[in-house]
Amino acid sequence: MITKLMPSTPENITQAAVVLKNGGLVAFPTETVYGLGANALDVDAVERIFAAKGRPTADPLIVHLSGLSQLDRAAVSIPPVALKLAEKFWPGPLTLILPKQPQIPHLVTSGLETVAVRVPAHPVALALMQSAEILIAAPSANRFGYTSPTSAQHVWDDLSGRVEIILDGGNTQVGVESTVVDVSTNPPRILRPGGITREMLEDVIGPIIVLSHQRGAEKGLPSPGLLAKHYAPKAKMILFRGRNAPQSLANHLKEAHSAGQKVGVLALEGNEADTLELAGAVVCRLGADLDSVARQVYAGMRLLDSLGVDLILCRDFGVSGLGLAIRDRLTRAAARVVNED
Ligand code: TXA
Ligand code: MG
Repeated sequence: MITKLMPSTPENITQAAVVLKNGGLVAFPTETVYGLGANALDVDAVERIFAAKGRPTADPLIVHLSGLSQLDRAAVSIPPVALKLAEKFWPGPLTLILPKQPQIPHLVTSGLETVAVRVPAHPVALALMQSAEILIAAPSANRFGYTSPTSAQHVWDDLSGRVEIILDGGNTQVGVESTVVDVSTNPPRILRPGGITREMLEDVIGPIIVLSHQRGAEKGLPSPGLLAKHYAPKAKMILFRGRNAPQSLANHLKEAHSAGQKVGVLALEGNEADTLELAGAVVCRLGADLDSVARQVYAGMRLLDSLGVDLILCRDFGVSGLGLAIRDRLTRAAARVVNED
């Protein structure tokens, strides 16, 4: 298959909508990461998503809606707490787990009776759905297990030859995926931290449980996609956590560098990055605050991979605000976590 990479002009969005209606695959930008979309009600089209990604069908997809008014096409028995969150945060990086509408195929939900739904805050994604007049099932547009794509180039690198169209909408704004919230329990639970922070959710609905994933404990998880290893770069990555993180990262760099390894580091810009660079690291600067770290962390891993580093080192950025989602992704991407609390 020849993949067309196109700018997101109105004409190209219309063309992509026709492809979707005919059972094809279209990668498109959202505010979080690029999605790999198909008509959610077309089982054959949804099957092609799993094949293109190399993703096991046990990992359910998110159904994207163009607005809250479409919610009852995907979900039933919507509890008040879900409506409250949807009204506050949609369009936006929040995914709600709700009882599924019978018309949603079991392939989309991996056999579950619940469905994940969200309204993305991106004009191209919204225009695409409005033009196609369908619900779009879309996971992130990367090969399974690799880091999520935050640019059309990333999608091209992973899926060229496997999808009909990639709509280019530039770099994504948020950079980490949506927050997945299960509202069927009381209190609700965050299954995957993401672009809407715990603090933002708690401001609206009060206490919420954060399900921290256990490395190695992959069975019996409430969200089948919560595999411990995920979102990983090709190079081996080590994450340093705890008070001594900067120091042990620097020590590790020194050892690996003198052993002749090409070492990549993901770091905040400033003194720390400069010092690590002087110590021989290939430094990828992620910006100066959590917003920019989230926006650039996946691109950083891809960049260091493309530079052929043997090893990637990075440190944790805490758990407040977007720090929680960043920690989650770094922990899953890491082959090893050095925790020195
Ligand atoms: O920001 C995002 O959420 C991006 C953009 C494209 O919208 N999408 C995304 O999709 O990250 P994906 O497939 O990579 O991640 C979907 C997550 C997985 O962790 C999956 O297990 C979980 O949502 N999920 C989907 N349906 C579920 C369900 N019924 N119950 C629990 N978790 C579910
Ligand atoms: Mg994904």
